[in-house]
Amino acid sequence: MNKHTVLVTGGAGFIGSHACVELLQAGYGVVVVDNLVNSKAEALSRVERITGKTLPFYQADIRDKPALTEIFAKESIATVMHFAGLKAVGESCEQPLNYYHNNVYGTLVLLEAMRDANVKQMVFSSSATVYQPSATGEYSEDFPLGAINPYGRSKVIIEDILRDVSAVDKIKQNGAPWKIALLRYFNPIGAHECGMIGEDPNGIPNNLMPYVLQVAIGKLRQLSVFGNDYPTPDGTGIRDYIHVVDLVKGHIKAIEAIESDKFKAGGCHAYNLGTGKGYSVLDIVNTFEKVTGRKVNYQFAPRRTGDLAESFANPERAARELDWVAEKNLDDMITDAWNWQVKNPQGYVD
Ligand code: NAD
Ligand code: WQD
Repeated sequence: MNKHTVLVTGGAGFIGSHACVELLQAGYGVVVVDNLVNSKAEALSRVERITGKTLPFYQADIRDKPALTEIFAKESIATVMHFAGLKAVGESCEQPLNYYHNNVYGTLVLLEAMRDANVKQMVFSSSATVYQPSATGEYSEDFPLGAINPYGRSKVIIEDILRDVSAVDKIKQNGAPWKIALLRYFNPIGAHECGMIGEDPNGIPNNLMPYVLQVAIGKLRQLSVFGNDYPTPDGTGIRDYIHVVDLVKGHIKAIEAIESDKFKAGGCHAYNLGTGKGYSVLDIVNTFEKVTGRKVNYQFAPRRTGDLAESFANPERAARELDWVAEKNLDDMITDAWNWQVKNPQGYVD
């Protein structure tokens, strides 16, 4: 028997597709809405093959209110997992209006459709980029917010909207209060261990792990390591990489918390999803070579504008309140990412 049904926006994407697998395997019903602007429907066919279950897919934009209204009318949705959004920092600096329209306006339309359908539980994909740069590199949830690019600011604005929506409702509305978990991801990498779903970036990857994968498989010639003069032990940037399957397990824990007494009073609660451990770019390259036996050609290059020296989560709140900790280590992340890359050298082919 199904637990309740979850509407997964952006469910064909990297993290959303892994969330669909985890939800279906945990016994939830899943409905996906995605406009495929950065993904392929094949990802959802793979989700169905992995789980042996079917899921209704609506190819629609979350800014299309009539389409959302129809989905909420047809499907019996209890919770929304909201992954849909544009996510490339550099592109967001070139196209700020597109990013605000897609991410902020899209979320407004989604919230209106939810309100109209009386669906008031949401798990939102936020990001570590919402925080002001910190001198220590460590971020707890109460660290001041202050993103430094339009993509990050779109997430801060959405978080503000979600806090406002849940606050007003608690006081004024007679029905059930809004219950919202803001999950602030650090650096998700890896893939499902079966190698059938993974990250399939369009064009030349912006992020480190997909770039390393494409160098190792021979699609790209050489990795540029952006900066070797940071105040870190080896001079390269440090990040908190987290296995995508651990990350989506955090989402299941968030739904469980939303439905438990912990969220009885409603409201909007933020949680970091990270391991709490940082690895440098050279740690990634060296571990990649050790785990896969493949060489990663690299050269040092100037720092990338806007990059921080170091960023890692304090993940204690999620451990305490969601009963969630990341379980997979860097070797697992790289093994699974490489398995996906080798099995799907061209990514998803529709
Ligand atoms: P992704 O691009 O693979 O997935 C996003 C999905 O949303 C795609 O399938 C895309 O087609 C869809 N989409 C975008 N705009 C849409 C719209 N207007 N209507 C319907 N569908 C739309 O990205 P991802 O890595 O899976 O990220 C998922 C979420 O997590 C995003 O909100 C992202 O900002 C957030 N996040 C990602 C990372 C990361 O490093 N991957 C880190 C922190 C936060
Ligand atoms: C990691 C490290 C780079 C590429 C970005 C977004 C963030 C989040 C995740 C969504 C850094 C170095 C990278 C390369 C390199 N997304 N690097 N050569 O910058 O921590 O975060 O993605 O919310 O918002 O900003 O991740 O993977 O791009 O970089 O040396 O070709 O690898 O300088 O130190 P980042 P990343």
